[in-house]
Formats: sequence, structure tokens, C-alpha cells
Amino acid sequence: GDLVVVAVDGPAGSGKSSVSKAAARRLGFAYLDTGAAYRALAWFALQRRVDPTDARAVADTLPDFDYRIGTDPDGYHVMVGEHDVTDAIRDPDVTAVVSAIARVPEVRVRLTELFRAIMAGTSREGIVVEGRDITTVVAPDAPVRILLTADEHVRMARRSAELTGHSAATVGEQLRNRDRADSRVVDFMNAAEGVTTVDSTDLDFDQTVDAVIAVVQREA
Ligand code: C5P
Repeated sequence: GDLVVVAVDGPAGSGKSSVSKAAARRLGFAYLDTGAAYRALAWFALQRRVDPTDARAVADTLPDFDYRIGTDPDGYHVMVGEHDVTDAIRDPDVTAVVSAIARVPEVRVRLTELFRAIMAGTSREGIVVEGRDITTVVAPDAPVRILLTADEHVRMARRSAELTGHSAATVGEQLRNRDRADSRVVDFMNAAEGVTTVDSTDLDFDQTVDAVIAVVQREA
């Protein structure tokens, strides 16, 4: 049958990545973290000493950006050329510039093509694709489309628990700034028509995964 695409969008700190990965694992689906690709390009631009605010210079790195991933949720690795950047793309210096990279139109077009090619190449029955514009731009025709949200104070608390050694105030400030910058490019705070909202504010991790799987079983 047709590939079952599960599109998941949401703000930073909503638990999107870990929830989507766990849901993919339970469903036996492939998994695609689109934010990781934007982060990998940001890492690549920094390596090349490109000014992240110079849209032209950022776009010029695209022909040399050799991005490869495995879509197995249990062994998710991000490669740029020969470099395994799975950990490096989480560095604060990458996080600090990724929004500037992601607002370059050529970047969005190129990465969207890449995501569609990865989806088309999936050998499993389905794939969970997670990001900011999956329900609206990358896979608007997906049979399952979910907006994963949580109140801002809960998202900040979860993120500062993940990042040890950073004060809650700093983490909160960075999270808010990144969401604000990203919101100017794509709307991931409001569910588009036909998109199901899963609010994890009062749910723990397992309950959130259950809620996502329930939507998949109902809508796929
Ligand atoms: O999901 P994550 O926080 O890792 O995403 C990193 C950044 O990548 C976001 O802050 C945003 O700038 C960009 N992004 C995007 N579109 C997506 C996924 C991520 O612009 N679909």
C-alpha cells in the first residue's frame, strides 16, 4: 500500500523529537528529524566560516552539502560527508545560528526536496517526519498530521532538565528567542486546517507517545 506519512510539527522543547522517535519505534516506522538537517547545515556553514546572517553565502554552501542519514529510529545518525555530526549539531553554537540558516529561502527549498526524497525512499510501511513545516509545506497531504504543543513554562522546564549546567533563565530566554525567530518563517504555534493538536502539558512522556499513536491509529 501507500507509505503512511505521520507529520509532526511543534515548537522547541515540546518533546517532539523524543516522542516522534518513540512513536516510530513502536509503530515499526522509519523516522526523520528535519531539524537535524537544518542543524547539520548550520554546523557545515560554521565549519566553512560562513557568516550565518549572509543569506547568499549560506545558499552558496548548498551544492557542497553532502547530507546522509539512516532513518532507523534505534540508530539515528546524522552524517555530513565523512563526519558523524549527531552530537555536534546539538552544540549551543550551532543552536545559536540555526534560525538564521533556516530562514534562507534556497535552504528551505533544497532541504524540502531532500526530505521528500528520503520519504520516497522509505522501505518501511510508514515514516514519522518531525519539524516545523511538515504538516503545512513538506507533507501537507500526509494522512496523519499532528501539532505537538505544551505550555511555555513546561517546555522550558523540560529543556533545562535536558541541558545540565545551564540556568533555567538562560534556557528559557534562548528557547523563546529561537521560537520567535522561527515563527517569522513558518507558523508552528497554530494548527493548520485538518491538523490534530496533541497538548502534552499535563501528560508524561509515555502518555504523550500513547496520544500520538492513538491519532495515527484513528487517522492513518
Ligand atoms: O527541531 P529543532 O529544534 O532541532 O530544529 C532546529 C531548527 O531548525 C529550528 O529552530 C528551526 O530554525 C529549523 N527548522 C525549520 N524547519 C523544520 C525543522 C527545523 O526551520 N521543519
